[in-house]
Amino acid sequence: MERAEKSSEGKSLFEKVWTLALHRGFVIPTAEIYGGIAGIYDFGPLGTLLVKRLIDLWRRFFIIEETNFPVYEVSGATILPYEVLVASGHVDSFVDPLVACLKCKAKMRADHLVEEKLGVRVEGATVDELNRMIRENGLRCPNCGGELSEVTLFNLMFKTEIGPLGGKAAFLRPETAQVIFIDFKKAFQAMRGKLPFGLAQVGKAYRNEISPRQGLIRLREFTQMEIEVFINPKEVNNHPGIEGVADSKFRILTREGQLKGEEAVEVTVKESVEKGVVPNAYMAYYLSKETEFFERIGIPRDKFYFRHMMPEETPFYSGGNFDLEVELSIGVKEVVGNAYRTDHDLRSHMRHSGEDLSVDVDGEKVVPEVVEPSFGVERIVYCILEYCYREDDGRGWSWFQFPPEIAPVTALILPLMKKEPLVSKAKEMFRAARKSGVFVEYDDRGSIGKRYARADEIGVPVCVTIDYQTIDDGTVTLRNRDTRNQVRVKAELVPRILLDLSEGRLSLNALEALKG
Ligand code: GAP
Repeated sequence: MERAEKSSEGKSLFEKVWTLALHRGFVIPTAEIYGGIAGIYDFGPLGTLLVKRLIDLWRRFFIIEETNFPVYEVSGATILPYEVLVASGHVDSFVDPLVACLKCKAKMRADHLVEEKLGVRVEGATVDELNRMIRENGLRCPNCGGELSEVTLFNLMFKTEIGPLGGKAAFLRPETAQVIFIDFKKAFQAMRGKLPFGLAQVGKAYRNEISPRQGLIRLREFTQMEIEVFINPKEVNNHPGIEGVADSKFRILTREGQLKGEEAVEVTVKESVEKGVVPNAYMAYYLSKETEFFERIGIPRDKFYFRHMMPEETPFYSGGNFDLEVELSIGVKEVVGNAYRTDHDLRSHMRHSGEDLSVDVDGEKVVPEVVEPSFGVERIVYCILEYCYREDDGRGWSWFQFPPEIAPVTALILPLMKKEPLVSKAKEMFRAARKSGVFVEYDDRGSIGKRYARADEIGVPVCVTIDYQTIDDGTVTLRNRDTRNQVRVKAELVPRILLDLSEGRLSLNALEALKG
């Protein structure tokens, strides 16, 4: 089934997907009844289910099924004291270049303005360089044509105070990672840890973005799923599970490739480590695992790659950053940041706090190095919505082809007509499926066609219909959303089938082979 590249009604694909997401309440602008607020959104019922399923799958894939070394989750505070963010470098360096219109007062990212107007990349450009480019090219406000201010640096953190009346200075955390670094030693000791040791966190992060835009792509409040893998510095090329993924492939856009204007190339994990395409085996491991994960959530392999960030885009302490970039209708977007953070964060917190965060390795004090995959939930949700969106393919409505493993609703249970004993049987099936842990819905309103349409529109993989034959022989029909074909199966098998579908053990393609 092909992804819709363009809309039939002249709207862009982004507009179509976003309109449907808003219309179906996947997303609700925060405080909409008071006029809304830029860069902050709520998830409605279907969006919340989708987010939950995405996070559950991520947790299963990257934490529970990670058996090469332990990975535990922590749940840290979202308010952090000033000192933590000084040590992390955010107070000094977490800034974006800001330019304001002197006439209409609009504020915008100076680098984005220059990139959009002049068609050049300016990552890493200084304030002086941006000012010069704006002046020399006569750039003016894109909204009203007004004159622009000088470029200044704006710190993206939300500042607050802990306690009343001139309390202690603090910030809402700009990333979940710092909590992991400051909790590392305690968590390591509590779990009788040894290296390699992973700590993960799923939670909110806050950035006061200058110009939030493109729906879920640039937000002021968003959710991260991050893993910090703490590694013995002498063992960074000795990942205990590397053999198992040695032949797995991922697509990479090297620095050299970028300079030559080339496309991403496919490499195996083994090659990437041996040829030094990535800085170590842990990085290669995660790039291959992420490739598998993104395919599983419905993003085709040829639509994303890992870009080795250029030196000017890379923090001074990093041993290499690799962004997972997805080709979207609104341009290429970074949705996961992979960073070899070395021992920078732990050492910096050691210096600022005076605490020893080293661990004992065979009687030797070791400050671990860190490889960090950092996922942004909302950006991934938008990728899923866009890649799973399908235009009307003759069925009379547009729909979402969510993989059953992340579909917000796994099945719709419906009596053919709102009549007994069909209603009672259908409700019995609904309760049995819910009890087995599958999120299904019951619907007896409107014609069967309308109910199928609603199910397709919100991406429900299967419709289970209870009809008069069910009363005679105990079978029901299962309608495959993708093919619209139906198959009859025994009613008592349905909860198990739905559970297997929702947990990825059964594919929708395999559904039609199930008979009797
Ligand atoms: N701890 C590393 C870190 O925070 P990052 O590249 O700044 O790295 C990681 O962020 C991911 O978080 C990004 O790849 C993106 O998916 C998500 N993210 C960052 N800023 C965001 C924003 N303003 N709105 C939505 N998602 C954002």
